[in-house]
Amino acid sequence: MVRIKILPELLVGKIAAGEVIERPASALKELIENSIDASAKSIHVYVKEYGLAEIKVVDDGEGITSEDVTLAFQRHATSKIEKEEDIFNIHTLGFRGEALYSIAQVSKLRIITQHREEDIGTELYLIGGKIVEKKPAVTRGTTVEIKDLFFNTPVRKKFLKSPFTEKAHLIETVQNYALAYPKVSFYLNIDGQEILNIPVASFLRDRILQVFSLEFTEKLKFMSISKDGYKLELFWGGEELSRKQRAKQLVFVNRRPVRDSLIVSTLYKAFKVKENHPQFLFFLTMPSEAVDFNVHPAKKEVRFRETGKITELIFRTVEIEKPSFIAENTAEWESDLNPSFSFQQSSFFETQPAFDRQEVLQFINLGDAIVALQQPEGILFIDFHAAHERVNFEKILNLLPENTIRLVFPQVISLNPQEYALLKGNLHLLNELHIEAEDFGENSVVIRSIPEILKDADIAGIVESIAVTIKEEAGKPDFNDIREKIAATIACHSSLRSNNRINPYELKILLQELELTSDSEHCPHGRPIKKFLSFNEIKKWFFR
Ligand SMILES: Nc1ncnc2c1ncn2[C@@H]1O[C@H](COP(=O)(O)OP(=O)(O)OP(=O)(O)O)[C@@H](O)[C@H]1O
Ligand SMILES: [Mg+2]
Repeated sequence: MVRIKILPELLVGKIAAGEVIERPASALKELIENSIDASAKSIHVYVKEYGLAEIKVVDDGEGITSEDVTLAFQRHATSKIEKEEDIFNIHTLGFRGEALYSIAQVSKLRIITQHREEDIGTELYLIGGKIVEKKPAVTRGTTVEIKDLFFNTPVRKKFLKSPFTEKAHLIETVQNYALAYPKVSFYLNIDGQEILNIPVASFLRDRILQVFSLEFTEKLKFMSISKDGYKLELFWGGEELSRKQRAKQLVFVNRRPVRDSLIVSTLYKAFKVKENHPQFLFFLTMPSEAVDFNVHPAKKEVRFRETGKITELIFRTVEIEKPSFIAENTAEWESDLNPSFSFQQSSFFETQPAFDRQEVLQFINLGDAIVALQQPEGILFIDFHAAHERVNFEKILNLLPENTIRLVFPQVISLNPQEYALLKGNLHLLNELHIEAEDFGENSVVIRSIPEILKDADIAGIVESIAVTIKEEAGKPDFNDIREKIAATIACHSSLRSNNRINPYELKILLQELELTSDSEHCPHGRPIKKFLSFNEIKKWFFR
């Protein structure tokens, strides 16, 4: 029989640390939060080897008194709350009193800090949570330097994703707090390279511009509404900024970046999002007693006392502002006769008449890119978006050099630092797929030539989606498949969408091309393309 026993303290520490410090970016998040809570006006971050070798955060905040500094590394030691009621009335980012303790458990940590009202500060050095050195120091604010993160928890290290992914998370972390705190300046340097340098901004929109590109920010529509102590500020990217994959969907509650599916799904409903994922920044300020942040060890999730208030606010925002693009685009959907689909007559047209050239295809457009095609034995349902994706996917993978076009005016695409970092290390993947791309410095890449099938596509959107794909796939063991994943992303972007119409001729060519692909039944994401319903089956419905 296995006996129950109390775990040794060292192990308890590591278990606790595991909940809070999942990856280098979680440690960085905690340090930045502490600096903000200490009223820092400037936060400098230095990272080496995606955070495993070093993460250093330098702030100009209040500092810690020499009396308290060792206490800060004990579990449940905090200056931010005192009694039970305080948990439901949080005004600071931290309150659990375990971040520094947890980080110290799994790293070699040096802190140099001096309280504003003291003449002398302290330098403390800890290894695996144990203080090994303490001496006086003179400084301003607080510097925390973490080295060899996870040195004593090698298994945690194994769970980390690729350097690209971890780097992307680090950049995203700084960006998130920069967005939430425009009055604080942020600087991020990774492996000696300046990634972000964001001065103080007076307005939220200015801060968004500093973090993202001008192209992105100028397309955002701003809406704001307040009621009963709740205030919602929404920067909504319309159809133009919508993407096949979820890209920037940032939710902040009381200036804390969180994940919240209720808010996201309500926005989708309110804005009648159908197909592509919108990009947006959602800032909700609300009474602190109406929100519980003590749900997730890393405070990434929240619980609301009155969810109805939030959904109401979202729906009212939409009603008041009635963003024009919704109306415009619905009208467009009715009349849009196919702007992006370029059909090329292929050489196999004559030789492989899977569908007879003279035959006029009888079909009904059922909407959502699905058509029903009459056939001698029944009805064939086809998802023409999926079919087009399959065709384009294989074209991209098997592209011949002569099917690329050189852009007369090379297109410079500004990215946010995270996307830029992801792409910069993977430009060869784009080049292999005949998107000739080069690093252009200052968070941008230049595109010189593209596959012909992309000539009407939104190249900037494609490049951003590729960055998202790299981020999602980079940590997976089958990173080799990334080329195919990227090809699928590109194919998806360049394919007919459900808001495009298709005419009989285009459909016919599409189906012919489809028959020549390696899998005419599935799109590159594995979804079915066709479904057949026989007349015999239909007759059975009527007992015939
Ligand atoms: N950069 C800093 N400047 C000033 N004081 C700091 C700084 N970092 C930490 N502290 C002090 O150390 C204490 C412990 O920090 P720690 O992050 O472990 O806990 P917390 O912020 O109170 O709660 P949480 O675990 O939720 O982050 C804080 O309450 C604060 O008083
Ligand atoms: Mg903290």
